[in-house]
Amino acid sequence: MAKHIQAIRGMHDVLPGVAPAWRRLEERLCALSRAYGYEEMRMPLVEKTELFVRTIGEVTDIVEKEMYTFEDLGGDSLSLRPEGTASCVRACLEHGLLHNQTQRLWYLGPMFRHERPQKGRYRQFHQWGVEAYGFAGPDIDAELILMSARLWRLLGIDGLKLQLNTLGTPVARAAYREALVTHLEAHRDQLDADSLRRLESNPLRVLDSKNPALQEVIAAAPSLMNYLDEESATHFAELRALLDDAGVAYELNPRLVRGLDYYGKTVFEWQTDRLGAQATVLAGGRYDRLIEQLGGAPTPAIGFALGVERVLALLGEDEDGTRDAPHVYLIVAGAAAEREGRRLAEALRDELPGLRLCQHCGGGSFKAQFRRADRSGATAAIILGDDELAQGRVSVKFLREERAQADVPRAELARFLANILLDGGLAPA
Ligand code: HAM
Repeated sequence: MAKHIQAIRGMHDVLPGVAPAWRRLEERLCALSRAYGYEEMRMPLVEKTELFVRTIGEVTDIVEKEMYTFEDLGGDSLSLRPEGTASCVRACLEHGLLHNQTQRLWYLGPMFRHERPQKGRYRQFHQWGVEAYGFAGPDIDAELILMSARLWRLLGIDGLKLQLNTLGTPVARAAYREALVTHLEAHRDQLDADSLRRLESNPLRVLDSKNPALQEVIAAAPSLMNYLDEESATHFAELRALLDDAGVAYELNPRLVRGLDYYGKTVFEWQTDRLGAQATVLAGGRYDRLIEQLGGAPTPAIGFALGVERVLALLGEDEDGTRDAPHVYLIVAGAAAEREGRRLAEALRDELPGLRLCQHCGGGSFKAQFRRADRSGATAAIILGDDELAQGRVSVKFLREERAQADVPRAELARFLANILLDGGLAPA
């Protein structure tokens, strides 16, 4: 037999045993966004390559080696989006959403990076992104961090650590960059090929190296904290005071530099020690200069994105779990009952909003239909045969518990089902 075509490495199907957990998490993320007054955005999965080059930065891992870039039939260079911030800014500028107004926005969807796949790191992954535009002060920085802290409480995830840093203004960073280059140059012989390359192009990224051999040089490097300008130092101090006031614990990490070039001032990451090397569950920061860089009026901006797969793994809900089984499975015997069954099924769906009712299709004996009913995972089977039809009744057989079959008049069926499926949260319309 021919070999089946497989999915692309690092891109995963979400099967029925796992999809309900995804749906639950997505609903909670949507509810949390709305609870803080954020509005949903949906952007295309594909953008002009130039957008990502100009925002994320030419000399970043993402743009240099992780983008899915192709030429379309019109000869334009397009890329699958590796993240959502660039598209969100592009969309806001395009639709005039930043004219004399603030925006609080969120989005959820797939992103694409050609990374080496491993647990927690995929080539198609999903982010919940949150972005706020037009707020210059540290109050919005605190709001975003409090929002993420609330999420961990809502989900019952503990043990996450908040890492906090400030990258200062471009002037401060330039001064720091000089000091850092001097330090790294002095230890040139200890740097690996990647760091030597970054030393020329983007020296701050050397601080992000995971190479154990480099940790000593990195630890001895000058700290950006000592090069901060007045404005960023004040902003950072105010943010810290707000977090202290709200009781959110954090760790200052002067080596936290982030892998995208658009950041300045506040950067933060929530990390776990439960997912191996893929420790960052949610990350973000300020990018006050990006909107201007893309041709808009200068507009302060800040945001973060959460990795959906990583959160599901922390919840232990990334593997086969409870399927979205129907509440009831309707078994029909005979042509007349089948016709009436369809009417009954539609009427019950009207009477009991939220009812998950699966009507048997494809004929077959009672026995075969019961087998399907059982496999569907339904709580109960409704049986509609000739006798029941003649008497205006149905039989209800319990599939998951020892309980006598019930004989229920049609007119009382909705109430009866609502009662036995109380756990399913059903109430008659
Ligand atoms: P990022 O740090 O590149 O930031 O990604 C944010 C989160 O997405 C990561 O912390 C991680 O949880 C998840 N993630 C990233 N790459 C992968 C992958 N290959 N597989 C699974 N999960 C992954 C951004 O993307 C920025 N746009 C965040 C932001 C929004 N900054 C401001 N606004």
